[in-house]
Amino acid sequence: MITPTMAERLNNHMNLELFSANIYLSMSSCANEMGLKGAASWFLVQYQEEMIHFMKFYRYLVDQGKNVAFLASEAVPNRYQTLLELYEKTLAHEQMITGRLNDLIEQAVQDKDHASQIFLQWFITEQIEEENNDRDIIAKLRLVGDNGHGILMIDSELGQRLFTPPPGGTVPIQIM
Ligand code: FEO
Repeated sequence: MITPTMAERLNNHMNLELFSANIYLSMSSCANEMGLKGAASWFLVQYQEEMIHFMKFYRYLVDQGKNVAFLASEAVPNRYQTLLELYEKTLAHEQMITGRLNDLIEQAVQDKDHASQIFLQWFITEQIEEENNDRDIIAKLRLVGDNGHGILMIDSELGQRLFTPPPGGTVPIQIM
């Protein structure tokens, strides 16, 4: 049993996770257009992870007996000038997501909603890793600056990232 306020806020966040997935899919195509295949692959993995996050919220709301609502969203940005800008925007986006998750946890505490607190805990931990990864990449990109060889080396490293499916499934729908 979750309160109507909590249900609405979780539903809003579910939509935000879907928006995040679309942002990263757009970034993947942008990196590809720049000729940075490694980064394009990295953002595709990030897209897959966001779809998992989206499905986790979807599943939680459905398991709580709620009918989810897909909300109108703003257009997804698709213009970035550099690889550094892509990752600076990624970090800023993830920091915003972390703030929203903290607000959700506060709502759950206020509601004495232990189930939602437990559900949200996974996301809070995940955000630490996401922000840390983004900061590491930004630091490397700042070190190499405009050096094309350095950027290509980082791009190659980014291409090593693999999608790790959640236990019990390889695609979002299977986590249900
Ligand atoms: Fe779903 Fe990147 O947080």
